Amino acid sequence: MATNIAEIPVRKICCIGAGYVGGPTCSVLALKCPDIQVTVVDRNELRINQWNSEKLPIYEPALEEIVKQCRGKNLFFSTDMVPALKEADLIFISVNTPTKTFGLGKGRAADLKFVESCARLIAEVCDRSKIVVEKSTVPVRSAASIVNVLKANTKPGVSYQVLSNPEFLAEGTAVNDLTNPDRVLIGGEDSEDGKKAISALSWVYRHWVSADKIIEMNTWSSELSKLAANAFLAQRISSINAISAVCEATGADVSEVAKAIGLDSRLGPKFLQASVGWGGSCFQKDILNLVYISESLNLTSVAAYWQQVIDMNEYQKSRFGERIVQAMFNTITDKHIAILGFAFKKNTGDTRESPAIHVAKHLLEEGAFLHIFDPKVEKAQILLDLDQLDEESSISIHTDPYEAAKGTHALVVCTEWEQFITYDYQRMYDSMLKPAFVFDGRKILDHSALAKIGFHVETIGKRHGQSSQDHNWTGTNGI
Ligand code: UDX
Ligand code: ADP
Repeated sequence: MATNIAEIPVRKICCIGAGYVGGPTCSVLALKCPDIQVTVVDRNELRINQWNSEKLPIYEPALEEIVKQCRGKNLFFSTDMVPALKEADLIFISVNTPTKTFGLGKGRAADLKFVESCARLIAEVCDRSKIVVEKSTVPVRSAASIVNVLKANTKPGVSYQVLSNPEFLAEGTAVNDLTNPDRVLIGGEDSEDGKKAISALSWVYRHWVSADKIIEMNTWSSELSKLAANAFLAQRISSINAISAVCEATGADVSEVAKAIGLDSRLGPKFLQASVGWGGSCFQKDILNLVYISESLNLTSVAAYWQQVIDMNEYQKSRFGERIVQAMFNTITDKHIAILGFAFKKNTGDTRESPAIHVAKHLLEEGAFLHIFDPKVEKAQILLDLDQLDEESSISIHTDPYEAAKGTHALVVCTEWEQFITYDYQRMYDSMLKPAFVFDGRKILDHSALAKIGFHVETIGKRHGQSSQDHNWTGTNGI
C-alpha cells in the first residue's frame, strides 16, 4: 500500500442500503480491511434482522462464511442510521434506483428518490466533513444532484466530496467479482479536495486490489461507464439471441455459430450464450435509463438503437413461450407443465426481471397448469411474481424436481442451474404423460440423450431433430 495511511482518515465506513449490492460489497470490504469498521444500514428492519441471523436475506455463494467471519467484529448491520452516518468518515449510497412507475420518464427514467433522501439525511445529521460515494447505478450527472442537495442543506463548516464508484458485481459470482475485480472505477471532482477524496477511497481498495486496476476518471465518465457496460453486455446477448432465431429458421446451430464468433480474439467467447432471454435487476433498468437520457438530450437515433436491445429480449422471451405452445400441438389448455428454474440466472435466488416470469405468465394465459421448481427461490416470491396471493389450482410450487415433473406433459428449463444437467431424466420421463416434451431455454441439457430416452426436445437456436454435440460446450461465460 503505497499511500501514506496516516494522511487518510478512513477508519469507519457506513453503507446505506443492505441489498444485493450493499450487503456483499460491504462484507468483502470488511473481510479485506480488518482495520476499517463497516456498518451497513437499511430502513428495512426485516432485512437487517436477516443479515444479523443465520439465514441471510440473499443467496450468494461463499457470502455466508464471510459474514459469519466478520459480523460483530468489524461488520455491523443496523437500522439505526443516524449514529452510523455521524461517525462514518466515508459513506456509500447503495440504495435501489428502480425505473419510475409514474410521472415524467415513467417506465424508463431511474427513480432517484431514495438516493436523494439519503443525501438529505446525510446533510441533516452529519456535523463534520465526509466523503460520499455513489455506488447505486444512477443516470449521468447524478453526483451533481447529490452535491446540490448536500450543499443546500449542509451544516456550517461541513463540506462533502461526492465520488462515483459504480459496482460491477454480477449475482451468483458476487464474492469472486468483488474479490478479483476486473477494474474499480473512481470518478471525482478535478480539484485538490476531489483528488484527496479519490485517493482516500483508492486506499480502501488498495487493501486487496492492485493499483493498475483502480481507474480514476471524471465523475460523469464513471457514471456513464456503468450504464454503458451493462448496455454492451445485454447487447451481446440480444445479438446472439437474434442469431438464434435465424438458426431456428434455417437449420444453423447457434452454439456452433457462437463458438465460431467467440474464437475471434477481437470478440472473445463470453456472453454469447443464447437463451430464453436475459433478466436481472440491472440490464433492463440501465438500458431504459440510457434510452431516456438519450431522448432527453435529443439523441433520438441513439435512443432507438439501445431500445432495440430490450425489444429483442422481449421478442426472445415471447418466441420461446409461443414455441412451447406450437410444439405441443398448438394447445396447452389444461396441460401440466413443469418449470425447472425460476431465478433469472443460476446461483441466485433473485427473480427480478427473470425470463421465467414471462414464460410462466404466457403458459398460464394459455390455460396450462404449472409445477414450478427452483433450488433457491422462495415459494412466496414465485407467487408474488405471478401475481398470485396463494398457491392455487393452476400453480403448484415444489421442493423436489421429480415431484414437479410427475404427471406433466413437458419440462421447461428457464434457469441454467448446474444440477439440472445431472438429473435422472429417465426417471422423470417414466413419470410423465406421453408424448413427453423438453424445452431447454438455456441449452444446458444433453439433447441427444434426452431424445434417446424418448423425449421430444426443443431448444433455443436449433431446429428440432438436429443432432446435438454442443450441449456441454462451456466456452461462453461458464454457463
Ligand atoms: C449484470 C452485470 O454482469 C454486472 O456487471 C452488473 O454489475 C449488474 O448486471 P447480473 O445481472 O447479476 O449482472 O448477471 P449477468 O451474469 O450479467 O446475467 C444477466 C442475464 O443475462 C441473466 O439472465 C443471464 O442468464 C443472462 N445471460 C448471460 C445470457 O442469457 N447469456 C449469456 O451469455 C450471459
Ligand atoms: P440493489 O440490487 O441495488 O442492492 P436492493 O433493492 O437489493 O437493490 O437493495 C436496496 C436497499 O436499499 C433495500 O434494502 C432498501 O430497503 C434500501 N433503501 C432504499 N432507500 C433507503 C433509504 N432512504 N434509507 C435506507 N435504506 C434504503
